[in-house]
Amino acid sequence: MNYFDINDIDNLSTWINEAIALKAKPLAHKLLGQDKTICLLFFNNSLRTRLSTQKAAMNLGMNVMVMNFGAEGWQLEYGDGEVMDQGKSEHVIEAAQVVSQYCDIVAIRAFAKFENKKDDYQEQVLNAFMKYASVPVLNMESAIGHPLQALTDMITITEHNNKTKPKVVLSWAPHPRALPQAVANSFAQYANASDFDFVITHPEGYELDPQFVGKATVTNNQEEAFKDADFIYVKNWSPFSDENYGKVINTDPNWRITSEKMAMTNNAKFMHCLPVRRNVIVDDAVIDSEHSLVIKQANNRTFAAQIAIKKILESIDN
Ligand code: CP
Repeated sequence: MNYFDINDIDNLSTWINEAIALKAKPLAHKLLGQDKTICLLFFNNSLRTRLSTQKAAMNLGMNVMVMNFGAEGWQLEYGDGEVMDQGKSEHVIEAAQVVSQYCDIVAIRAFAKFENKKDDYQEQVLNAFMKYASVPVLNMESAIGHPLQALTDMITITEHNNKTKPKVVLSWAPHPRALPQAVANSFAQYANASDFDFVITHPEGYELDPQFVGKATVTNNQEEAFKDADFIYVKNWSPFSDENYGKVINTDPNWRITSEKMAMTNNAKFMHCLPVRRNVIVDDAVIDSEHSLVIKQANNRTFAAQIAIKKILESIDN
């Protein structure tokens, strides 16, 4: 099996509970990955994903190889039948097969390039690796999804929730650079698969792809969204629309998360995937408050990765 997106999870609640059990006993399956190797390929920067995925694999007894492919690998061609007489030195057809010979799982981080919306939304890089690799593929954040982050976030909400149906709000916040929609897309997808009163709030022009919005309530009124919320999950993303895809069209500081806004909630927990720009996305007083879960979220990245790798290893052995 691959862990590409939520469709690779047979039962989300079971995965969450198993991840929480792994957190209590991280070395319980330390022989499962013995003599197996995971290769982590990074086309983009990372702190949490890089270290937590390594930690997860080591907890399962695996060998780990890491490559900063974006900085140190050959530039890859993805097109069919291309005459490769320009800047691209190697085709993914060879690269994926070659890497597969060195490892039992290949994990890939490859963000949206914002060059071509169709290529991004067709998951050009991850789909090419899944097509040509002969080993399972683990998604460490692709062009349009971050399933390890979203699984982490569901684990974290489960640990801190004391309601049958909590109100969970995904709020846009300003950022000076154009960021991918991946974290917001996956958070929305996993929140829709959970028993939440789920609300998305963003300025006009920042509508997400409807396939991820699903049954969520959507409002451009952030204060209304925050009323009675139990969890505030904050993230910047750039527009999905054809007209403004991957551009910055709004930096309104009034969307920043402040103590005054958090006071409108039901003592909500504050969540963000990190890295975060303090006093642009969120005020110091909020992220430093007792309601902030950001460090606990980052810790749970290990156990989200560990349950995903464990499931893949079990599928290999079967
Ligand atoms: N949240 C997250 O994926 O962090 P990194 O980009 O540092 O891996």
